[in-house]
Amino acid sequence: MTTAEPTLNLNQIRAEFPALNDDCVYLDNAGGSQVLRRVADRVSDYLLTSSVQLGASYAQSQQAGVKVLAARQSVATLINAAHDDEVVMGGSTTSLMFQLTQAILPDIRPGDEIIVTNTDHEANIGGWTRLKTAGAVLKIWEVNPLTLALDLQDLERLLSPRVKWVALTHASNVLGTINPVAQVAAMAHAAGARLCVDAVAYAPHRLVDVQASGADIYAFSFYKVFGPHYAVLWGKRDLLLSLHSLNHFFIGENVIPYKLQPGNVNYELSYGCIGISDYLTCVGTDLGSTGTARQKMQAAFDAFEKHEDALAERLLTYLRSNKAVRIIGVDSTAAGARMPTVSFMVAGQMSEAVVRHMDRFNIGIRFGDFYARRLIDALGLQAQGGVVRVSIAHYNTPEEIDRLVQHLDEFIG
Ligand SMILES: Cc1ncc(COP(=O)(O)O)c(C=O)c1O
Repeated sequence: MTTAEPTLNLNQIRAEFPALNDDCVYLDNAGGSQVLRRVADRVSDYLLTSSVQLGASYAQSQQAGVKVLAARQSVATLINAAHDDEVVMGGSTTSLMFQLTQAILPDIRPGDEIIVTNTDHEANIGGWTRLKTAGAVLKIWEVNPLTLALDLQDLERLLSPRVKWVALTHASNVLGTINPVAQVAAMAHAAGARLCVDAVAYAPHRLVDVQASGADIYAFSFYKVFGPHYAVLWGKRDLLLSLHSLNHFFIGENVIPYKLQPGNVNYELSYGCIGISDYLTCVGTDLGSTGTARQKMQAAFDAFEKHEDALAERLLTYLRSNKAVRIIGVDSTAAGARMPTVSFMVAGQMSEAVVRHMDRFNIGIRFGDFYARRLIDALGLQAQGGVVRVSIAHYNTPEEIDRLVQHLDEFIG
């Protein structure tokens, strides 16, 4: 049973992240979050006690193997995978997406169609476009320039029996919008296509549930979720088994996830990731949850969401009030349909100038296209240097948002 009292103890939370002790206001969290001490401790522990090759018969090798397997199991719980061998890990979401599309390539026939959006980070577009070499036809699901949403009617029009894959982001790393992936999965499946979801901008803010998502492939990066520079790609077991191997010829086609992890996983970073689940479970326990590990994690994320929404609304309230500001995305958290990643432009100012002003006060935000280049181009925002993006994490404080707002107001007037 979950009886969580949804109020975060921010002092306790911030003490988990040693880097937060400096004077910087970290508001570029969608670029990369701060790292938990417990993650760093585990990485260090693994390196200093378990640096042996796996798979040998001597005790240390066996023990190291147990640690790396425990890491995969921990990630499986974090994402609610039905089987831990559905968990593929690798260097980054970008590289895992390239690996995925390479494993799909031999099955592509001329005329096969793939739908990508023009709101995604390029990580979930680039690999798909390379399938054109095998004759695939790329179709673009375009953002509605007025509402900044991806309309399901547009997807309906693009779907056809020739579509093999739809690639979509769970949440936009620029707009903050959360996309209805379960609905999209149902539509894609009804048309005989599969869905590949980029959840990099989603996973730091909501508890991932790969099964509930309806997706066939679901990927995100741990360095945005309080962990190391490392990433996970989950796939339904039957699908992973059907993909072509990226590993040596003598690694069997049925050996998942290894056949998709050439050179194997990074042992110490995998082990470090256990710290993420540990942390979320502890936060849930502190909030009063007495349920399963995932129920505790859910309690943690419920409290994160409430806190992050309050911080985002504090910022959005200011941005809405200033006539010179144009918010690029949904301008309120009211509908619960946005992440605390807030992009905006200032009339008559290059976005870089706004960010440079904040540098002077040790407030870390940034500007640009955030590798969602096609979105920024489609909205015609490149000339001003893209958007200014403020991306909030659960460890940020109201005082930090006030400090940002004060300096923004000074600059914008
Ligand atoms: C939405 C989104 N997808 C994918 C990526 C790429 O992740 P990685 O750096 O792990 O390749 C990012 C990185 O910023 C992102 O924001």
